[in-house]
Amino acid sequence: MESDLKKIYLKDYQSPDFVITNTNLEFDIYDDHVTVTSQIQFQKKTNANDLVLNGEKLELLEVKLNNVSCVYEKSDSSLVIRNTPDEFTLFVVVKINPYTNSDLEGLYDCKGILCTQCEAESFRRITYYLDRPDVLSKFQVKIIANKKKFPVLLSNGNCIEKVDTSDNRHYTVWQDPFPKASYLFALVAGDLGIIKDQFQTSSGKKVDLEIYSPHGTQHLCQHAMQSLKLAMKWDEDTYGLEYDLGQYMILAIDDFNSGAMENKGLNIFNSKYIYASPETTTDKEYFLIESVVAHEYFHNWTGNRVTLRDWFHLSLKEGLTVFRDQEFSMDMTSRSNQRVDIVSELRSRQFAEDASPNAHPIRPESCYSVSNFYTSTIYEKGAEIIRMMQTMVGRPGFKKGFTNYINKFDGKAVIIEDFAQAISEVNNQDWNQFKLWYSQAGTPKVTALTAYDHTKKKYSIQFEQTCLLTSNEKNEGKTKKPFHIPISISLFNKQGCDVTQKSSHPDFVKNSENNWIFHLKDEKSTLEWDSVPDHPIASINRDFSAPIHLETNLTDSDKIFLLEKDTNFFQRYEIAQKFYINFILKNYKENVFDKSLFENFIKAIQNNLQEPSVDFEIKAKLLQLPEPSYLLQFLDNINPEKLAQSITQLETMQSEFLYETAFVNYKKWHGHNETSTQSKDFGHRLFKNCCLKIITQSSKFDLALTQFQLSKNMTDKLTAASLLTSTDNQFTEEVLSKSFDQWKSFPQTLNHWYQIQAKSRSPKTLDRIRKIYTSDTFNHKNPNSIYNLLGVFGQNLFQFHDQNGLGYQFLAEHIETLDKQNPQVATYIAKSFLSITKMQNSLKTNGLSNVNELLKKSLSKNTFEILNNIAKS
Ligand code: BES
Ligand code: ZN
Repeated sequence: MESDLKKIYLKDYQSPDFVITNTNLEFDIYDDHVTVTSQIQFQKKTNANDLVLNGEKLELLEVKLNNVSCVYEKSDSSLVIRNTPDEFTLFVVVKINPYTNSDLEGLYDCKGILCTQCEAESFRRITYYLDRPDVLSKFQVKIIANKKKFPVLLSNGNCIEKVDTSDNRHYTVWQDPFPKASYLFALVAGDLGIIKDQFQTSSGKKVDLEIYSPHGTQHLCQHAMQSLKLAMKWDEDTYGLEYDLGQYMILAIDDFNSGAMENKGLNIFNSKYIYASPETTTDKEYFLIESVVAHEYFHNWTGNRVTLRDWFHLSLKEGLTVFRDQEFSMDMTSRSNQRVDIVSELRSRQFAEDASPNAHPIRPESCYSVSNFYTSTIYEKGAEIIRMMQTMVGRPGFKKGFTNYINKFDGKAVIIEDFAQAISEVNNQDWNQFKLWYSQAGTPKVTALTAYDHTKKKYSIQFEQTCLLTSNEKNEGKTKKPFHIPISISLFNKQGCDVTQKSSHPDFVKNSENNWIFHLKDEKSTLEWDSVPDHPIASINRDFSAPIHLETNLTDSDKIFLLEKDTNFFQRYEIAQKFYINFILKNYKENVFDKSLFENFIKAIQNNLQEPSVDFEIKAKLLQLPEPSYLLQFLDNINPEKLAQSITQLETMQSEFLYETAFVNYKKWHGHNETSTQSKDFGHRLFKNCCLKIITQSSKFDLALTQFQLSKNMTDKLTAASLLTSTDNQFTEEVLSKSFDQWKSFPQTLNHWYQIQAKSRSPKTLDRIRKIYTSDTFNHKNPNSIYNLLGVFGQNLFQFHDQNGLGYQFLAEHIETLDKQNPQVATYIAKSFLSITKMQNSLKTNGLSNVNELLKKSLSKNTFEILNNIAKS
């Protein structure tokens, strides 16, 4: 199948032959189709003769150039206008059908509401256009529809006309004063409820805020509204950026492929990132709503006002905007807690991707499908690269650079280097080597060997960096250069005082926030300190200053010391993770469990639990074991059953040693501010729920059962249900049937019900999933349902990789049908197979045969690309 698909390359980029100065669209909405009439003003920029427009799934009705008919050619994906003049208006009428559109791209229908999703390349399914991000045009949009069916008609910008016409129809006209790329276009039509609010910007402008959603859900939108106002204020306070239109609208819709979309002035959201109520929404979801609303808002400057030259530079807007939403969340809650979450996500998703057949750099060089660019690497690693920049120049320096970026490039379509340049030029940095992070994939591994010479009073850290070639890099015959890695370091004396000082190395410097940073640039490099009175202990890569795998020769007692004494709480979490990983891996590889070391480790954990200065969220995270997807990165040829056993054994040990502590703390904190939805109360709840997990690890289920039965708080209920169904016990079936009764009528809670079963360690898991998937209550058209059932199952180390191969077979069976209906959803599920390359031969062979069978079918280019990477690796 590969031969009929075309790869696109960054190196082939060419600026457009034509620009568009004005785009005028008219949508006539009918019961079985929509006609789109466009009048687009073009200006020629080169000596090209022909105008090549993108267009897919359009029924062409009429074409005119400057009001007269013209010569054109039409294919499945384009419309070519021959011999064009230097300036002209093109008039085109097409017919489209949102009602039969099942892949949720372009204009589609969700339970009577029409809405659009155009990023990355789906505006071409609305009309013929130069559908590329470097063509910026002003838009005016008129929408005409039946007034009863579609009382609300929205598009980008400001509403300049609203008129009732005869025959029960009406129309609105929208004007967006800011030139924008087509991917930011949006249209909404439907019978919708609304909540309204207002925000006054720092310069005194009043902005109307409106959240639209189906009738009866308005009461669920308040938290999103509050989040929006916090985000607007934060961007003013932090970067001096104000909102630029008089109106900011959001639509919440149930069927949506991704999380949310930043269309200018009219964001469209997956309703799961808007709806919240104390009875149905978990703490984590409250947090996510705030951060996703903020993310899409922040795109107004980083994405919309300053946009991309081409999709290979997607990280320019996504990496940066993730960085911005992370900073926002850090300021709303606590920096070290947030850092722990960000790093744990990064390692279990992005590091896993970088170690998989789908590894790619932040700025990819080629692809089959642009929609495959929306990865953890582009997003989360992209954000880490920007965070390293901020670490190197300090927060004030970064702010200065960021302002420079906005001022220089407002209204332009630019590339990633432009961002790096804007930050470095006002901070006197040479980032030529640093920019290798953009082009080289893979996670660098850094070893740091510390040594102390008692007689010479000399301390040293010897660094070495390596980065394995990814499978694509190998296939392309590439080599790698050393990265520029900023490593934050502190040295502690035995009393726990920070005794970091200047070293002889010129690249060991203090940044403006008084943190010592070593700029590791060579493959090998040594830091040395003279006149160090006592053997210090080094805390290295503090706050995860660089996204690397770090290995040190710190002794177990050094690590215990840091676990108790490090002034950086992220580092304490980090050390605990290292201990957990080592216990699991040693048990897995050598069947050895060092009980006395474990005892010392647990004592240090207990000391942290008693220390008032340690936040409850950190306390909780000190009890959490690493994610399986992170563990996989340390192994090859994996026997998943054995790995699962090693994890379970560590959990049993943890429970054996910590049962009493967990019990006392659970009793102390359970019920504390039970109905609060404020983030300051989330930490206590997370902590006592981690205690509950430890209690159930000893097969003591009564507290979890009571919590499930009596709690009114969704976080508590869900945690208890999840613990009671993660393995089979006498309560499992009852909990599943009761929770179904309670959760079935609301999509978000029903999705939780799918999720707890899909991630369960029970051998009944696959049977349960099959039953759900084939029942008539399961909504196969809704991406969230598929992600929560099949997607979560695909990440289940304990059951997806069962030796009998049934897990692989089950997902493979459904990928083909899903792909016909919705390629993006199918691609997501297909990614489950990325992990088979890590498994032992019998599983790998079995998984690969499923992948190869699928590759023989006619697949979308999205799904093909992922499966093909797996097969090739
Ligand atoms: N621009 C994206 C939306 C998008 C995603 C468009 C995939 C096309 C394909 C949006 O800004 C985004 O990044 N959404 C994220 C959530 C965000 C908080 C990271 C998403 O949808 O997952
Ligand atoms: Zn985004």
